[in-house]
Amino acid sequence: MTEENLEIMLAAEDIERRICELADAISEDYKGKQLLLIGVLKGAVIFLSDLIRHIKIPVEIDFMAVSSYGADTTSSGVVRIQKDLEQSITGKDVLIVEDIVDTGLTLSYLYDNLANRSPQTLKVVTLLDKPDRRKVEFNPDYCGFEIPDRFVIGYGLDFNENYRYLPDICVLKQ
Ligand code: IMP
Ligand code: MG
Repeated sequence: MTEENLEIMLAAEDIERRICELADAISEDYKGKQLLLIGVLKGAVIFLSDLIRHIKIPVEIDFMAVSSYGADTTSSGVVRIQKDLEQSITGKDVLIVEDIVDTGLTLSYLYDNLANRSPQTLKVVTLLDKPDRRKVEFNPDYCGFEIPDRFVIGYGLDFNENYRYLPDICVLKQ
């Protein structure tokens, strides 16, 4: 695969500018609170890393890894936790950090799972949202960009574990 297959959808500067806006909104909304950010591995790692450096209040971070699988290669609705949190979230202000909401199946599962652990508050920030692809209703509380129904890679997002390192978010031209 060469770089010729790639078409930039969101350039690094646009991503950074939008992340600053999200960080400002989050800093304002959680002022005086002890915020715990939960990154969803692996795609959200780069987004979370950039986000926390622009948030102006103290935050803690933790990570979860989930996999969705079934007969289809796209999300099946069967979600399994591969790595759980290292701490209890009971009574905490929790913000799930995700790279992209597609069918909504992963986040609706994760949201319900974490809600059952009695956090004080539970919200979701996603960098990208593909609303056209929803199979279950799911509305993130904060969203970086709504994008059309294209498969995107870069800035943490992968295709078969490739391209996560790219600074821009790109479409793979088939
Ligand atoms: P869901 O369909 O909303 O459950 O999305 C589950 C996961 O699929 C996301 O967290 C991503 O890891 C992955 N995914 C969905 N759309 C894309 C894409 O366009 N590029 C890369 N990964 C994607
Ligand atoms: Mg993901």
